[in-house]
Amino acid sequence: MALIKRGAYLATASDCVACHTASHGKPFAGGLPISTPVGTVYSTNITPSMEDGIGQYTEEDFSHAIRLGIRRDGANLYPAMPYTSYARFNDADTQALYAYFMHGVKPVDEPAPKTSLPFPMDIRASMKVWNGLFLDTKPFVADPHHSVEWNRGAYLVEGAAHCSACHTPRGFLMQEDTNRDLAGAQVGPWYAPNVTSDTASGIGTWTQEELVAYLRSGRVPGKAQAAGSMGEAVEHSFQYLDSTDIEAMATYVKSAPAVHDPAAEGTRFTAGNMSSDLSSLRGTDGIRSVDVGIPTGAELFQGNCASCHSAHGEGSKDGYYPSLFHNSATGAHDPNNLIAAILYGVNRKTSDRQAFMPGFGGKPTDAMQLSDQDIALLGNYVLKTYGRADTVITEQDVAEVRHGGPSSNLIALARGGMAAGAVVIVLLVLAFVVRRRRRPSL
Ligand code: HEC
Ligand code: HEC
Ligand code: HEC
Repeated sequence: MALIKRGAYLATASDCVACHTASHGKPFAGGLPISTPVGTVYSTNITPSMEDGIGQYTEEDFSHAIRLGIRRDGANLYPAMPYTSYARFNDADTQALYAYFMHGVKPVDEPAPKTSLPFPMDIRASMKVWNGLFLDTKPFVADPHHSVEWNRGAYLVEGAAHCSACHTPRGFLMQEDTNRDLAGAQVGPWYAPNVTSDTASGIGTWTQEELVAYLRSGRVPGKAQAAGSMGEAVEHSFQYLDSTDIEAMATYVKSAPAVHDPAAEGTRFTAGNMSSDLSSLRGTDGIRSVDVGIPTGAELFQGNCASCHSAHGEGSKDGYYPSLFHNSATGAHDPNNLIAAILYGVNRKTSDRQAFMPGFGGKPTDAMQLSDQDIALLGNYVLKTYGRADTVITEQDVAEVRHGGPSSNLIALARGGMAAGAVVIVLLVLAFVVRRRRRPSL
């Protein structure tokens, strides 16, 4: 029983449920479409169902799947399943997780939809090459130069909590760029910002208490709110972790080597001010619509946003509705999360509250629908009036976030046709050969 309970805790810390449950689906029955830069990958049924789930997995099969990315039938998993992080799990924790999935989860006899990626990504064996290059199969080893708390934090952050799967930029072959750990990356429509200790580009100005509060509740007033995939991680995973574990994780993250981004001057948490500049209601450059009859950014703001965030952008007195200045979504060099917040809204439940903002990107027939042009006008008004004034949103930026975020060069190549696809494979293999050659001299 104790083993199953520990497994349940680890499954929560690892947020297995977030990916392995479809919206309105049964827990762990899979079927969630995960948009990756190379196409949609469906999560699988990991309930102990004999036919449709992992009921036939032995403990060894399970360990291979979560730590090496290899399915029971020997096929490779795509790294949309974060086995590159779970590879850090020690044997005892892997065993506890297995016990939980076999004995603590209800079997669901429903098959999850199959994943079919475009060529060449449909060749699962190509992941063997990728793993050879980028998968570090060593479980976590404690660093004796650091405290027990720091090491516990490192184990959780690098492994179960897989912060780097979202926050670490990826290289050409979509591998995590380990030299720029936690320096910020696009994950689907949202941008997971730089959370290194850099005081300008990262969260070096946050206190330990603020980081702990953010992981627990998804918000730090006057700094940031968690929406999108971060909101889900807080809702399903981080809010439930023991406070000693959250403290340990914050301790470790606060020590992450600073990575400075010279393009992003100034910290995103202090940009902008309360503004009562309603003279721009009729529009100024960049926010005025050129077509007669189309509302200006200011009008769109008053009509759609001011009721909650107030006409001057300072939010509500009780802080439930956040201010739009001193807010990472409007202070960032990259306007992505402001666009995503307008399109998709915020919906995050924690034990103390539900943070809810409606999305404005609905179907064309929805009353709440704003077009790409509207959102560009509105977004630019918000940035100029309350946020980082030198950031500009184009209609194309909005369209890209609406369609799930930028797609990778890799697939652009593959879409170029078979020949280009073959080039990718050759590149992969070449890179692999180069690496193998180098090994003996290491
Ligand atoms: C970020 C999303 C994500 C998270 C978090 C995640 N998984 Fe997965 N997992 C996937 C996807 C997607 C697949 C299918 C990949 C494929 O088809 O190549 C998968 C496949 C699997 C498989 C292979 C099952 C089969 O089809 O035979 C197992 C086992 C598994 N996951 C277990 C887990 C466990 C246990 C956890 C938590 C410790 C977890 N996953 C967390 C996305 C995720
Ligand atoms: C599934 C993807 C995902 C995972 C896993 C994840 N994050 Fe995030 N994180 C994001 C996204 C996306 C945002 C932006 C959210 C927003 O602004 O609404 C974010 C925002 C943040 C912020 C606020 C930064 C800012 O400038 O607003 C911090 C701090 C943070 N994450 C820390 C962490 C830590 C620490 C972990 C691991 C314990 C982690 N995240 C795991 C996706 C993720
Ligand atoms: C019904 C009330 C409501 C309306 C209308 C509303 N918001 Fe929000 N907004 C919220 C709440 C609640 C949050 C999240 C607070 C939290 O996370 O604790 C939020 C968060 C945000 C954030 C931060 C998101 C992030 O990921 O960091 C931005 C930016 C934002 N709103 C802009 C807007 C804009 C622009 C509009 C108009 C198109 C708008 N809001 C309309 C209630 C609202």
